[in-house]
Amino acid sequence: MGTGAEAVHAVNPWVAVAYLVSGVLFILALRGLSSPATSRAGNRFGMLGMLLAVVTTLVTHIPGAGESYTWGSSFVLDTSTLFEILIAIAIGGTIGFVTARRIQMTAMPQLVAAFHSLVGLAAVLVAVAAYLNPGAFGILGTDGNILTVSRIEMTLGAAIGAITFSGSVIAFAKLNGNMSGAPIILPARHVINLGTLAAIVVLTGMFTASGQAGPGENNLFWVVVALSFAIGFLLIIPIGGADMPVVVSMLNSYSGWAAAAMGFTLHNTAMIITGALVGSSGAILSYIMCRAMNRSFISVIAGGFGATASAGGEAKEQRPYKRGSAEDAAFLLKEADNVIIIPGYGMAVAQAQHVLREMGDILKEHGVNVKYAIHPVAGRMPGHMNVLLAEANVPYDEVFELEDINHEFSQCDVAFIIGANDVVNPAAKTDKSSPIYGMPVFDVEKAKTIMFIKRSMSGVGYSGVDNDVFYLDQTMMLLADAKKMVEEINKALAD
Ligand code: TAP
Repeated sequence: MGTGAEAVHAVNPWVAVAYLVSGVLFILALRGLSSPATSRAGNRFGMLGMLLAVVTTLVTHIPGAGESYTWGSSFVLDTSTLFEILIAIAIGGTIGFVTARRIQMTAMPQLVAAFHSLVGLAAVLVAVAAYLNPGAFGILGTDGNILTVSRIEMTLGAAIGAITFSGSVIAFAKLNGNMSGAPIILPARHVINLGTLAAIVVLTGMFTASGQAGPGENNLFWVVVALSFAIGFLLIIPIGGADMPVVVSMLNSYSGWAAAAMGFTLHNTAMIITGALVGSSGAILSYIMCRAMNRSFISVIAGGFGATASAGGEAKEQRPYKRGSAEDAAFLLKEADNVIIIPGYGMAVAQAQHVLREMGDILKEHGVNVKYAIHPVAGRMPGHMNVLLAEANVPYDEVFELEDINHEFSQCDVAFIIGANDVVNPAAKTDKSSPIYGMPVFDVEKAKTIMFIKRSMSGVGYSGVDNDVFYLDQTMMLLADAKKMVEEINKALAD
């Protein structure tokens, strides 16, 4: 990569327009992703926007084409560098394509965490490159020092990127089972965390104000990067159990802000727009999820939730419960007027969505009113159940959010719980010592009959706590793999 002239040229209007169009396409992508019905179109808008941004960036840096462009940065790509970039895109694109095709829906959260870690690392590497070779980025002042504003941008980008990287690696390891999901609580962790954060802020200020800021000259930059890697790790290890979804979305937000900060260093409008969109949508999603779990954002960040969660699953007392068969379930379902189906993580594991939709169809043929109730954090990622039900062609108008359907359980004949657990646990309403206390849950205990599909009485939900619904008088436990059980129910319904 050669270094071009340092003078600032006029912005090529076509580049500005192309980046603006890609920004609009990203906004349309987010809009599309807000509903299962339009999510495919949303994804396509996003892909198109990214293609346009990448091609524009490459074209503007090809010798000749780049001359009229700049908004500061003045790289000129020689043919061999361009070739290397295309090879890197091909390798990265192939890995991403194959991984995304092969990944199980249930492993999606860890995949997202892994991708965020790469965004964070990329931000750190771009900041390091800018720090070591500021001339190539057009951020070297006439006094031989890196421009003050660029020093702020690059340290911010590197710091947020490093936090995103190490935090995402820990989130990945926890979600993927490479390390225990239980919180690791260090003594005086709040003091350590606040101290480290304060040190990062102070050192960033010192680096920015320092007179000595030529290329790679000031070690304060490296200290900020090292401390940021450490704080990412320290912030995520105490977070456990049911707070992990919020962590993943929070890291999503961080990766966006890291990208936006680096967009300033690279003088790339598309990157600033994309980073800001990812940063703000991730923050909004984190807020929505915190609300769905009745957790305050600050308490999630402060960590430690779930410390007692896993204990609930251990040494459970034996309590009496009623076990039913597929035939019993089929009989009661056929007799019902209103059935509400509550899917959860177990349905995803068993891939039972298709047979479940068949069950719904058979029941509707028998004149039963069938509705699906989706909790905002059912499964292991936002929208998990919506995606699976959409894949099985369950009509969207039969799918209801928690707040729209919760009042209907008192008039419902059968609450059919398939692979859900935490989201129907009344302890969230009554037991202040429960780790899920305060999370809004379905009022399934108000239904005349409750059918509960899970594999065994010893299995627990994500938060690791027992569920009183198993032992209610009106509850029939259907102990089997969800797909197998629903197949048998369908057979019994057909007979
Ligand atoms: P969980 O509470 O995790 O319960 C899953 C249930 O499925 C368990 O009762 C389990 O019991 C059963 N199960 C597992 N495999 C099964 C199979 N093959 N066939 C039948 N049953 C099976 O699920 P939920 O109610 O959906 O709650 C979600 C939880 O995950 C919440 O605590 C939430 O905070 C957390 N979480 C959510 C997200 C997002 S964003 N959605 C991300 C991470 C974590 P057995 O083992 O006995 O079968």
